[in-house]
Amino acid sequence: MFIDTHCHLSVEDYDDIDTVIKENRAAGISKIIISGCSYDSIIESLDIADKYEDVYVTIGYHPDQVEVITEKELLFLKDKLSHPKVVGIGEIGLDYHYSKELKEAQIILFEKQLKLAEEYNLPVVIHSRDATNDTINCLKKFNLKGDIHCFSGSLETAKIYISMGYYLGIGGVVTFKNSNLGNVIKEIGLSNVLLETDSPYLSPVPYRGMKNSSKNIPIIAEYIANLLDISNEEVSKITLNNTSQLFDL
Ligand code: NI
Repeated sequence: MFIDTHCHLSVEDYDDIDTVIKENRAAGISKIIISGCSYDSIIESLDIADKYEDVYVTIGYHPDQVEVITEKELLFLKDKLSHPKVVGIGEIGLDYHYSKELKEAQIILFEKQLKLAEEYNLPVVIHSRDATNDTINCLKKFNLKGDIHCFSGSLETAKIYISMGYYLGIGGVVTFKNSNLGNVIKEIGLSNVLLETDSPYLSPVPYRGMKNSSKNIPIIAEYIANLLDISNEEVSKITLNNTSQLFDL
């Protein structure tokens, strides 16, 4: 049994949500946490979570939304945080890969949402791309727990996040030939690891480049089990335990 701690589910990417949910269940995925990270996807994610008992959501504005989010959208977010299926705020964070020129505005939006997380006592799901130092500095200003979603940093960065009490979301990237993530996991072990797909993106090998889905979680788990020379069950047990430490599902 596994939980996909971070994925995206939308009719834009999947023709038939019902089929996706059925395939997940057949693959031993007991719950999924979908991330609504724009105004429209928050609405859609909550609708899906209302419909399926094994679907939970985190909501929050992705840094790529920085130019369109006003106080009105932030009030909308705040209003939805008490929805019974909302288990965290995210994915929120900093992305300097595409939009370096908006650094200041991204930090302001990020910190506003970190403050909300503190106020509502919710964990955060962090998106950080080419922005490690600023992400760490922002997180240090708050007393939060959370998940560094799609972690792909160095061993040193992993250790900093872990020392701050954060979990690392590990997905298909660990199976990529050019990834150093396997070596990082060999050093840190699974005590702070969560499994995620980030579907529809980042399919694990041998489906790299194809549309991803939560049903691929066992492939990632098996890769990690082989890497650490432990059983799939052990990977399942530890990561489920980590998931329930962080999220109240
Ligand atoms: Ni994502």
